[in-house]
Amino acid sequence: MLGAAVCSPSIREIAMQNFGDKRYWNKGYGSDTIWTLLRHAFETLNLNRVSLQVFESNQRAIVVYERVGFKLEGRLREDRYSQGRFEDTLIIGILSDEWKTLKEVEA
Ligand SMILES: CC(C)(COP(=O)(O)OP(=O)(O)OC[C@H]1O[C@@H](n2cnc3c(N)ncnc32)[C@H](O)[C@@H]1OP(=O)(O)O)[C@@H](O)C(=O)NCCC(=O)NCCS
Repeated sequence: MLGAAVCSPSIREIAMQNFGDKRYWNKGYGSDTIWTLLRHAFETLNLNRVSLQVFESNQRAIVVYERVGFKLEGRLREDRYSQGRFEDTLIIGILSDEWKTLKEVEA
């Protein structure tokens, strides 16, 4: 999995993107990778917030992001046209405090 990230040090925030290889989908690698990225973001880099944007039709990705604790923060209505129809882009994010709570539950 490859990723790109835009970091804002002043507000300790990172916005990230993921690009995975289809051959490796649905094997748990995505969930593991996002979990590891969040651990690095919150525990090593001491960030306060991680966010990203995902197309509403990308249910595979949304399942993964919700599983690791991302929450819906906003919606860009019909800002994409694909396969003959408009669709929304979801803005989702997770905060450091939410991550710590989730980690305690997982432990
Ligand atoms: C999104 C992505 C990172 C997920 O990685 P992954 O390795 O496939 O994820 P996992 O295997 O950990 O989990 C996928 C989950 O989605 C579920 N899923 C797959 N297709 C689904 C669908 N159409 N609807 C709902 N859930 C779906 C799987 O069942 C699995 O859940 P489970 O473990 O409970 O069975 C990967 O598919 C990818 O790189 N996609 C292409 C790029 C992309 O879309 N990036 C996100 C841009 S924001």
